[in-house]
Amino acid sequence: MNTLDAIQARRSVRAFQPRPVEAEKLDALLNAINQAPSAGNLQAYQVYLVRRETTRQRLAAAALGQKFLAQAPMVLVVCACPSRSAKYGQRGAELYCLQDATVAVAYGQLAATALGLASCWVGAFDESQVKEVLGLPAAERPVAMLPIGYPAETPPRTPRRWLTDLVKEKE
Ligand SMILES: Cc1cc2nc3c(=O)[nH]c(=O)nc-3n(C[C@H](O)[C@H](O)[C@H](O)COP(=O)(O)O)c2cc1C
Repeated sequence: MNTLDAIQARRSVRAFQPRPVEAEKLDALLNAINQAPSAGNLQAYQVYLVRRETTRQRLAAAALGQKFLAQAPMVLVVCACPSRSAKYGQRGAELYCLQDATVAVAYGQLAATALGLASCWVGAFDESQVKEVLGLPAAERPVAMLPIGYPAETPPRTPRRWLTDLVKEKE
């Protein structure tokens, strides 16, 4: 599957098979995330891999009860690390680390699709609860949780804005 095919095929999947993800696929997924661009190549984010079911259930509770999070065999929690962007001052701490984490999640979603896996960006959660569940350093900020696994549903394509609305050409 080429990149454009993966972009077109990706969907937010909210139902997962219990089937585990093969170690080679997990490795390929994490390597793809590690190739994401970042400000100054500082990679100001941290990825937490959660496989234990009880922890996944606690993360689902922290995500306002989004139970599908615990259904997937694994969850990646991607956090922004402002201290890693300190070189860029306030812009690094307030913007670049969030952007670094965001693009890493996007790479992860596309890589998952290319590997025949599914994911869903979960952004609605209680930050302090997630931090407590994982015992995260105070300075780290969870940006997204990604349940990853084999899909148990095939969601339809969701609508998008027309390009004529989305893109404004400027002279
Ligand atoms: C920042 C962000 C936060 C999101 N939070 C959630 C969430 O908490 N729960 C959920 O089910 N989907 C969440 N989504 C997924 C969106 O609902 C989904 O991407 C959108 O409806 C488009 O559908 P598609 O991903 O299938 O193309 C989030 C997506 C983004 C980018």
